[in-house]
Amino acid sequence: MSDFILAPSILSADFSRLGEEVENVIAAGADWVHFDVMDNHYVPNLTIGPLICAALRPRTDAPIDAHLMIEPVDRLIPEFARAGANLMTFHPEASRHIDRTLSLIRDQGCQAGLAFNPATPLAYMDHVMDRLDLVLLMSVNPGFGGQSFISTTLKKLQAARRKLDAYAQESDRRIRLQVDGGVKPENIAQIAHAGADAFVVGSAVFGAGREGDPHRYDSIIKTLRAGLA
Ligand code: DX5
Ligand code: ZN
Repeated sequence: MSDFILAPSILSADFSRLGEEVENVIAAGADWVHFDVMDNHYVPNLTIGPLICAALRPRTDAPIDAHLMIEPVDRLIPEFARAGANLMTFHPEASRHIDRTLSLIRDQGCQAGLAFNPATPLAYMDHVMDRLDLVLLMSVNPGFGGQSFISTTLKKLQAARRKLDAYAQESDRRIRLQVDGGVKPENIAQIAHAGADAFVVGSAVFGAGREGDPHRYDSIIKTLRAGLA
């Protein structure tokens, strides 16, 4: 078992067969289900919420990694916890009180993450490290699947990796570093090299293989893992 996490984003899955899609991608060897929540307010798109999360929960034992692109965020945290989400990540710009929102997530028994848009400074993590389980760097502007990886994210990943390593040294606690947007077999090695250890992959996974084939994701997951080896 490698220590890299592959988290397929179901934003690019077939929404008419979401349960099967989740089962197939986990059976193919993916680790987490990345669940993109958009509200047509914080981001210009509208997707799925706690009802769909609850409907998918019995389909898999894999952790559900809820990426909350919503504003305000606090009210929906207990709802996502009840719906079976395991991790919740939100954007600092979408919370009035970042420290409070992080605590709220942990209070619900979930792991807490902070998401950084391409232009959002990493300093937002500095005074809340002890409250973080995951740091997510967006490598596209949030809102849509299928966009191209913004290459300046590589430098930002290196900077985040330095902060997280320094924190791990002093605290003996590891915070995951996740990247989201435009991850493909062609760039995943370079992204890992820059310091990421968790990878959201949407269109590259759900666009792979032959429609209707329950094993359609086996080969793309294998290819992504090989890129990480
Ligand atoms: C974008 C979402 C991503 C997206 C990634 O706002 O947060 O999770 O689905 O999709 P790809 O891998 O296609 O860029
Ligand atoms: Zn996402």
